[in-house]
Amino acid sequence: MEKTFLMVKPDAVQRHLIGNIVSRFEAKGFRLVGAKLMKISNELAEKHYAEHKDRPFFGELVEFITSGPVFAMVWEGENVIKTARQMMGSTNPSDAAPGTIRGDYGVVVRKNIIHGSDSEESAAREISLFFNEEELLQYDRPVDGSIY
Ligand code: PPS
Repeated sequence: MEKTFLMVKPDAVQRHLIGNIVSRFEAKGFRLVGAKLMKISNELAEKHYAEHKDRPFFGELVEFITSGPVFAMVWEGENVIKTARQMMGSTNPSDAAPGTIRGDYGVVVRKNIIHGSDSEESAAREISLFFNEEELLQYDRPVDGSIY
């Protein structure tokens, strides 16, 4: 089953949005297989955002993501990478449709509430940066048969 890495960013943790965000993905039918509240080190932030290191906002991005706790998660389900990105909305909250997470809660791109992997490759890379194999669980839920 496909997996993706999602992270509630420091702005949304401060604003008490963890539960709301988790509940959207649960209600959709995806399965939470790993999660932790953590403070990201500068080293991890630079690795996570390595592909953006030449962009003008890189320093600001690293400073923001290390500024407070984040809630890192791995979610599983069919097409979860693409569907989670749709549920998150456009990167810039001012372009994000109402009903999406960024559309409902974000205002500016610097504080855009949530991160989600954008491809299978980035999901695999990001999951392994943030989680050990033992931290990812496999389990069945009674509702799975009704979802698939
Ligand atoms: S995306 O979704 O990767 O295509 O978005 P992209 O525009 O390439 O942005 C990459 C990440 O940088 C964040 N970002 C910014 N941070 C601070 N300031 C500015 N101006 C800015 N523009 C983009 C954006 O939120 C992406 O981070 P994640 O964590 O993936 O959302």
